[in-house]
Amino acid sequence: MPKLKIVGGRRLSGEIVVDGAKNSAVALIPASILCDEIVEINNVPDISDIDALEEILDYLGVKVERGKHSIVFNDTKIDNKFIPCSMSGKLRASYYFMGAILGKYKHVDMCFPGGCSIGERPINLHLKGFEKLGAVVREDDGRVIIDADELVGAEIFLDFPSVGATINIILAAVKARGKTVIDNAAKEPHVIDVCNFLNSMGACISGIGTGRIEIIGVDHLHSTKHNVVPDMIEAGTYVIIASLLGKNLKVSNLEPLHIESLTSKLEEAGVNLEIGDDYIFVADVSEYKGIDIKTMVYPGFPTDLQQPMTPFLVSCEGISHIEETIWENRFQNIADTIKMGASIEVSSDNKVATIYGSSKLVGKEVSATDLRGGASMVICGLIADGETIIDNISYILRGYDDIVGKLNRVGADIKIVD
Ligand code: UD1
Repeated sequence: MPKLKIVGGRRLSGEIVVDGAKNSAVALIPASILCDEIVEINNVPDISDIDALEEILDYLGVKVERGKHSIVFNDTKIDNKFIPCSMSGKLRASYYFMGAILGKYKHVDMCFPGGCSIGERPINLHLKGFEKLGAVVREDDGRVIIDADELVGAEIFLDFPSVGATINIILAAVKARGKTVIDNAAKEPHVIDVCNFLNSMGACISGIGTGRIEIIGVDHLHSTKHNVVPDMIEAGTYVIIASLLGKNLKVSNLEPLHIESLTSKLEEAGVNLEIGDDYIFVADVSEYKGIDIKTMVYPGFPTDLQQPMTPFLVSCEGISHIEETIWENRFQNIADTIKMGASIEVSSDNKVATIYGSSKLVGKEVSATDLRGGASMVICGLIADGETIIDNISYILRGYDDIVGKLNRVGADIKIVD
């Protein structure tokens, strides 16, 4: 199995260009099925989660033209058959086929989604939303079968502003009869991107980016061409790296507002960031002081940046805390961070990590436990003394486009080895 080998301690200079958002692209691709004409999506990240979606499309008989960073649907008609666990289980976002196929064909039969085991990851809110629209949901040993004679707009209140449930219900509602209202909807930039994409095809969605989204159903969705929004998590990961190792390092093609919760925390710790219209630049690093972080839904501090932030806090002077409020199992990277020399305690309820700072990390053999935990280990390796070997790198390649090339080009010593 391939591994990542990193020789740490290199200062990084030049430019890292952020790609399109994984969490947006993985929704836009299933959403394209709803369209009745040609769809072209650009700025698609070249990651294995997109390969997994393409495999499902291919299985359903949808032939797409895939470029390195683009995907074109010339025909969106599917052979609406059972999607097996071997396909849906490869990624979390396979659940967007539920909303999209239900919205267009009123019948879905597929296995539960997969994804990183960062918590329980129920989809009850998605299914409850489909039921509110008039669908009947049956669950049978890991299989979900959803049927509707007709989908009819409804008022839906989400117990939690779930990203996945918000998008999935929108996908099911865009062609439903009448008006659907989603209250306590998610406001993440990828939710906004999906709504803008659907509207560009003729959908009628308003309240985008607020907690109350209204959808008036339409019969037909026409051709569109769309650019995926920049990836706020990839951007944030590289801005954290720049804060630790940057020497005139620019992270470009990002939307600074999307990661304000991160940059305000980095600045509180003492990082000197130059924030431009679409880039963040770090001229040099210095000594930083410990800070406290609590993960929240957007625009709060994103849970997906909590693990990449850990090596930063390990390097700060004094004590820092991370409180994880979204997922139950998101400190899996900490054992290997401790192995590399960090001093961290996790509370017995697995919700708060206390980081005793200023530890110097030393290269070790470690493992990526999940996507963002893997990114965290990459950062540990970049700042550590000596050589770090990271196992299980398929997790990392699921979500970071060309991470090895991007880091190498700015001076890191990182490569994939067998
Ligand atoms: C998405 C992202 C993931 C990110 C997360 C939170 C994708 C493919 N993944 O995941 O990277 O960490 O948003 O920003 O976009 N919940 C329920 N019932 C549901 C759905 C969710 O209880 O039906 C709970 C979850 O257990 C969790 C919280 O809501 O505690 C957030 O989940 P959600 O926003 O749905 O995350 P995902 O869409 O799965």
